[in-house]
Parts: sequence; structure tokens; C-alpha cells
Amino acid sequence: MSADHAFGVYIHWPFCLSKCPYCDFNSHVRQGGIDETRYVAAFAAEIAATAARIPGRTVSTIFFGGGTPSLMQPATVAAILDAIAKHWTVAPDVEITLEANPTSVEATRFRGYRAAGVNRVSLGVQSLDDAVLKQLGRLHTAQEALDAVAVARGIFERYSFDLIYARPGQTPDAWRAELDRALGEAAEHLSLYQLTIEPETPFAALHAAGKLAMPNDDLARDLYDLTLDRCAAAGLPAYEISNHARPGAECRHNLVYWRYGEYAGIGPGAHGRLAIGGGRRATATEKRPEAWLMRVESLGHGRIVDEALSRDEQADEFLLMGLRLAEGIDPQRYAALAGRPLDIDRITSLAGHGFIETTADGRLRVTRSGFPVLDAVVADLAA
Ligand SMILES: C[S@@+](CC[C@H](N)C(=O)[O-])C[C@H]1O[C@@H](n2cnc3c(N)ncnc32)[C@H](O)[C@@H]1O
Ligand code: SF4
Repeated sequence: MSADHAFGVYIHWPFCLSKCPYCDFNSHVRQGGIDETRYVAAFAAEIAATAARIPGRTVSTIFFGGGTPSLMQPATVAAILDAIAKHWTVAPDVEITLEANPTSVEATRFRGYRAAGVNRVSLGVQSLDDAVLKQLGRLHTAQEALDAVAVARGIFERYSFDLIYARPGQTPDAWRAELDRALGEAAEHLSLYQLTIEPETPFAALHAAGKLAMPNDDLARDLYDLTLDRCAAAGLPAYEISNHARPGAECRHNLVYWRYGEYAGIGPGAHGRLAIGGGRRATATEKRPEAWLMRVESLGHGRIVDEALSRDEQADEFLLMGLRLAEGIDPQRYAALAGRPLDIDRITSLAGHGFIETTADGRLRVTRSGFPVLDAVVADLAA
């Protein structure tokens, strides 16, 4: 799984039919409908403006994320893909993923997305238990989600789905049973996220009021261990802290982020990392959809952040992203970015605690014991 010279394009569609109480993604509900034609023109303009800064790239991956990109008309997706192909070369084996919510209405659009060029879908199933789906504020039942997975299976070469675990009151036995059912429905890839209480969400308020009994660290660890074991036994080992795939079936777009490659972020609240003039720039666009639209219409782009990253910043980001991967990082790339090697004493100490290890080919990776405390491991190494 090589991502050398990989270049990814991320497209953010910031709208949802309703807001899930746990979610803090840049997603908005608009009752009056969305003027997709206007958005298409703005996406095309931002793609053109970005391509003018980084011309000549070959696009290896494209990812429509959200929000809920499966609310877009297939013609909107097709027009955005056309704009990308107009300004950059698109690799013959390009991976084009679209995030979809698994409702029956959205599944009716899958064939149109396939015709537009999408060759991979990622479905937000979240749970296979109707009571839990209700608690999570989802608009679909478990059966509807499984039906959408079946439709995806018939149309796309590749599909993945997401589940959220370590939920309030979830026992290891219940999660094992749910995960085994999910593995029976999975093809090559599953994303399994532990529920995170994000600040300023309705779940954060419930949590603060003592109304969400979240698993303690020991239980969360047990749930994580059984997730790794079950997925590996089913032939989908973890290649990243929350992502599991048959070897070779990893999400190539997300690998661009984790291997610290180059990517453009298009649309409201999208982030990019662009290689310009021998340096690396961090970009971000206006988050609010209507404000982004007006900015693009008047300036030709929605960018509000455009900063050169220092060597230390790049090295820290490289560490933060790369240590999420089972393959770990190449310490020499860290040294090349930072202008100095990683601190050997810190490595020895973290390895002594069993949190990291060096592989036979000299890569540094986090161990199973280290993953639950990944943030602390990264903070220690980066300091
Ligand atoms: C951009 S979101 C969702 C895509 C799509 N709108 C959906 O909901 O199906 C990507 C994934 O992040 C996960 N996610 C979002 N908020 C989360 C949270 N607070 N804790 C854990 N996982 C979360 C969900 O599994 C979700 O499918
Ligand atoms: S989880 Fe998905 S559907 Fe729910 S609010 Fe977030 S982006 Fe929208």
C-alpha cells in the first residue's frame, strides 16, 4: 500500500437532514432546500483556484465527505468530478469515495453516483440495534441500513461502513454479537469508532447531567481489544486505530492524510496541506456554508487560513498522523522534516513501557497497549 506522490482531493458537503446529537462535524440542516447549481459553480471555482496554486498534479483519490454527501444529486457529483478532471490529471485507477447515510431514499441515488464515477461508498450504519439508532438520533432503522449495504454491494466495487461502539451501557457480549453480525455484512473494510463526547453537542450536555453512562477506561480497553481480535480473525486487521481492512483494501484517501501526503480541501470548512515552493502550507476554508458561498462568489475561493508550516510543525503533524497507522512511521522522514532525529531517550522509555516498538525494517510503531493512550505517546515523542 504505497501512497508515495499520492495527491488527494477532499470535497465537503456540509448539509444533513437532521443533526445527530453526538456529532460535531461541520454539518447543517437547511429547511428551505439547497441551491445545488449555485454550490456546483462555487465548488468548480474553488477547484480552479486551488489548481492554479498547485498545477500539474495527478489526482489519486477523491473523497466526498460531510455532512451527508448522499443528499447531493448525482449530477452535482458528476459536475464536481468534471471540474477536478478539467484542472488536474485524474489517475486511471483513481479511488472516488462518497460518504452515504443508509436510508432507502439515499440508496436510490447509488446507481447515479456510480455512473458519475464514484467507485467506493462509506455508509454510516452506526449500529445494528434500532433502540440505539434512535438514541443516536439516526433517521434509519438497522434493517434499512442493511438494505442500503446490500444495494451498495450490488453497485460499487468497494464499500465500507461505520459503526460507533463503546456506547452508554454497552457490554462486551452485546458488542461482540453486533460486531460479528457486521463482519458478516462487511466486504473489505470497516470503520469502528469509539463514541466520543464532543464539546457543545447535545450528548455533551446529557453527559454533564450524568445521563450518559460512558464506559470506564478498563471497559473501553476490553471493547477495543475484542474489536481488534474479531476483525483480525475475520481477515480485516486494523491498519489504523479505528479502521480495519483486508490487506490492500485500505481507504487510499485516508492513507494520504495518515502518511502525511498532499491533499486539497474544497468546500465549506475543508482543510488542505499543499506542497508549494519546497514548503508545506496548511489551508482551511470558511465553515459556514452560506458565508463560504458568498466568499467564493466574490473572491474565487473560500480560503480563510493559508499558513506556511514550520519544520517542527510539519514533523509534529507527521508524527500525529503516522502513529495512528499499524505500519507506523519512518523515523528518517521525521528527522528530514524536523532537521533532527527523534529523542532516543524518549523512545527507549516509551518502548520500556510497552507503548511503542521498532520493527525489523526500522519503522517506529505504536503497540496494542499504546493505542489506547496514543495522544500521550505522541505528545511525549513530539515534545
Ligand atoms: C462525517 S461522519 C458521517 C457521515 C454520514 N453523515 C453519516 O452520519 O452516516 C463520519 C463518521 O464519524 C463517526 N462519528 C461522528 N461523530 C462521532 C462521535 N462523536 N463519536 C464517534 N464517532 C463519531 C460516525 O461513525 C460517522 O459515520
Ligand atoms: S453523523 Fe452524519 S448525519 Fe449525523 S449530523 Fe453528523 S454528519 Fe450529519
